[in-house]
Amino acid sequence: MIDESHPLFGADLDTLAVRAGQSRTAEGEQGEPIFTTSSYVFESAAAAAARFSGEAPGNVYSRYTNPTVRNFEQRLAAMEGGEAAVATSSGMAAILATCLSLLQAGDHIVASRSIFGTTSVLFTKYLAKFGVEVDQVELTDYAAWRSAIKPNTRLLFAETPSNPLNEVADIPCLAELAHANDARLIIDNCFCTPALQRPLSLGADIVIHSATKFLDGQGRCLGGAVVGDRETMDEVLGFVRTCGPTMSPFNAWVFLKGLETLRLRMEAHSSNALALAQWLQQHESVETVHYCGLPEHQGHELACKQQRGFGGVLSFTVKGGREQAWQVLDATRVLSLTANLGDAKTTVVHPATTTHGRLSDEQKAQSGITENLIRVAVGLEAVADIQADLDRGLSRI
Ligand SMILES: Cc1ncc(COP(=O)(O)O)c(C=O)c1O
Repeated sequence: MIDESHPLFGADLDTLAVRAGQSRTAEGEQGEPIFTTSSYVFESAAAAAARFSGEAPGNVYSRYTNPTVRNFEQRLAAMEGGEAAVATSSGMAAILATCLSLLQAGDHIVASRSIFGTTSVLFTKYLAKFGVEVDQVELTDYAAWRSAIKPNTRLLFAETPSNPLNEVADIPCLAELAHANDARLIIDNCFCTPALQRPLSLGADIVIHSATKFLDGQGRCLGGAVVGDRETMDEVLGFVRTCGPTMSPFNAWVFLKGLETLRLRMEAHSSNALALAQWLQQHESVETVHYCGLPEHQGHELACKQQRGFGGVLSFTVKGGREQAWQVLDATRVLSLTANLGDAKTTVVHPATTTHGRLSDEQKAQSGITENLIRVAVGLEAVADIQADLDRGLSRI
């Protein structure tokens, strides 16, 4: 968050996206430099002692702080409306750092069922080993959230819109529930990014990012971030500097430049996704389209209220089963068959056998991951070319 004395105080998201967090060196550079250094030189032994003890500000070692990484953290924090951010080596590292810095054995998390599969594995397999319990509930079943909360619940964790069905959760409602029970609400804001949704302004306490996705926007680097109030971020930073899942300065620079075009890209992703969703709805080989930009979608009204756009990810079911879905994927010649999302290049995937392949049949059924479901992370190509590539397989069903 930018304080009142700062020239960017009150600036629009577009201005923050290109200006926030930059501090020029004596060279007067216009672009942000990449500080590829692992450590920093002190002017004297006394200065070294003061920096190590925290009495004097300044860099010590790049596992702790790095100017390029700090640029990225400050810019993202400003865009999310948070007091501070902590960058990490991946989105999963951001979730791990948040949980390990805020939880202890005996604590409990309530998470939505429709979270990213690896996040579920982190909660149910790895955190469980250290005595942290998790219960997973339907994203939009608020009575289920309420009844899953226990006296030891510390965190509520959700992704909205969800992957791959685009369900939308009421962030203010979940925040109220968390706060009434002395817990904190974490929102993974990967699908919307601050260009389309600012969960902190809706009552969430912490925002998580896989910077790997839309923040980069061109599928180049792995990275993650946690955003929230300064006290909580100091806790998270303590974990990161001790345990080491630090973001590299080069990756921070890539994400920093990615943030500059984020809003323009998110608008283009969203308008391409809406056009594709409408075209798929009319297609005779398509059964259902899951996209919160469609008025028929269960989350549309809520998305209109709490998002500035509908995002670039949609999914749809084809008439038939796995064979027909694979046929559509295998027929593509332009789109990329890959599990990543948030790239300028459109990506397509079969969730039931890839991103959600580790779920049991029962979990898949509960999460709506059917064999005929295809996810599309709509890129920046001309939408007519995306449609033509999908039609190669769809028209043969
Ligand atoms: C919603 C969501 N959160 C977190 C992650 C994890 O991010 P990363 O792959 O950068 O570790 C992903 C990755 O696909 C994701 O889709």
